[in-house]
Amino acid sequence: PSGNITIPVFVHVIYSQSNENISLEQIQSQIDVLNRDFNAINTDFSSIPSVFQSVAADFQMSFVLKGVDRRASTQVIWDARAELYKSYSTGGLDAVSTNNTLNIWVCNLSNSGSAILGYGTSPGSVDPTQDGVAVSPYCFGTLGYLNYPFDAGRTTTHEVGHWLNLIHIWGNASCGTDLVDDTPVHPTENYFCPSFPLYSTCTGQNQIQMTMNYMDYTDDRCMFMFTAGQKARARALFEPNGYRRGFVT
Ligand code: ARG
Ligand code: ZN
Ligand code: CA
Repeated sequence: PSGNITIPVFVHVIYSQSNENISLEQIQSQIDVLNRDFNAINTDFSSIPSVFQSVAADFQMSFVLKGVDRRASTQVIWDARAELYKSYSTGGLDAVSTNNTLNIWVCNLSNSGSAILGYGTSPGSVDPTQDGVAVSPYCFGTLGYLNYPFDAGRTTTHEVGHWLNLIHIWGNASCGTDLVDDTPVHPTENYFCPSFPLYSTCTGQNQIQMTMNYMDYTDDRCMFMFTAGQKARARALFEPNGYRRGFVT
């Protein structure tokens, strides 16, 4: 489709400590970040280096909070990929119509025993009842219970990127591919806040790395753009034959 795509959002909060039972204001602050980042109206959009300005993209997607449910649990941390928090019968909360709703679970997450910030499913990678993104409470939104440097809501932007079929910018391999032409080849993931310019060391690729892309692993304040190629890949999901066609009425 052309023009704006509206994404209804349902947020599921599962907590074992009261600070993890985040406020509605904290939830709304995250929805607000998504609306800025996916419409290129984030205040740091103006920090995009001139070499990347021509490919910086406005996805034209709006996010609307449709509901919130909450559940207290004795489980202190959840294995992100085991997905038990996605079902009431396994101690979590059930998804709401994933064919036309973005489900976001907010709970303490781990992977192989270590705490992680977030986890987003790619289209078709899991059962439809498990489709959506999961984010740890201390990196959700911009106010309330938060842990610097993950306090600007970019974990959710990144995970929604996965939900929109985007691959990490380094292609999950040494000098791998993200299947997008206008993002540079990166040797591996970048952390913290790399100083600009950081050159690629991949063979035949001496370009500057796009460390400020949301699909890298840099700190929240150091990621602020998607590209036109990422936009095309994401929006293809909403075409009549695409995996997320149910969002288009
Ligand atoms: N999927 C990544 C993780 O598991 C999230 C990275 C988010 N990065 C960020 N700066 N917020 O940790
Ligand atoms: Zn990721
Ligand atoms: Ca690329």
